[in-house]
Amino acid sequence: MTRRVLVLNGPNLGRLGSREPDVYGRQDLSELRTRLAEVAAADVEIDLRQTDDEAELIGWLHAAVDAGEPVILNPAAFTHYSYALRDACALITKAGLALVEVHISNPAARETFRHTSVVSAVATGTIAGFGFDSYVLALRGVGLADPA
Ligand code: DQA
Repeated sequence: MTRRVLVLNGPNLGRLGSREPDVYGRQDLSELRTRLAEVAAADVEIDLRQTDDEAELIGWLHAAVDAGEPVILNPAAFTHYSYALRDACALITKAGLALVEVHISNPAARETFRHTSVVSAVATGTIAGFGFDSYVLALRGVGLADPA
């Protein structure tokens, strides 16, 4: 049986590759998808998505609860202020499913407004500052990567 994991990405992450490459690097989401497929265990299907729309992201989290699927989430700027997203994340962890908050950069080392995460307190864990490796480490954290 295939195990599935949702890898959800919030606003402006569709611009990876050209968006502030000094902060986020030069690789885009399709390269992230390839990277994760390489490290995923053989029976794992990765469903990587991006949206700029808060309602759509929340809808995907509700669907993850209903399907019983773990989530790796880069909430992007929603991290810092979206209580609606936070409440949807709580639905995941309260259901006993893993929700790993990831960031490409280290928000704690950037502007003050990025130091607050309204998601962290309801996440299973947070990984930040390792570029695309943050997602790889999250995949390992939820036990869905090939043994290193
Ligand atoms: C980010 C950090 C956020 O502060 C920012 O708004 C993003 C990306 C990261 O992956 O480093 O869009 O989540």
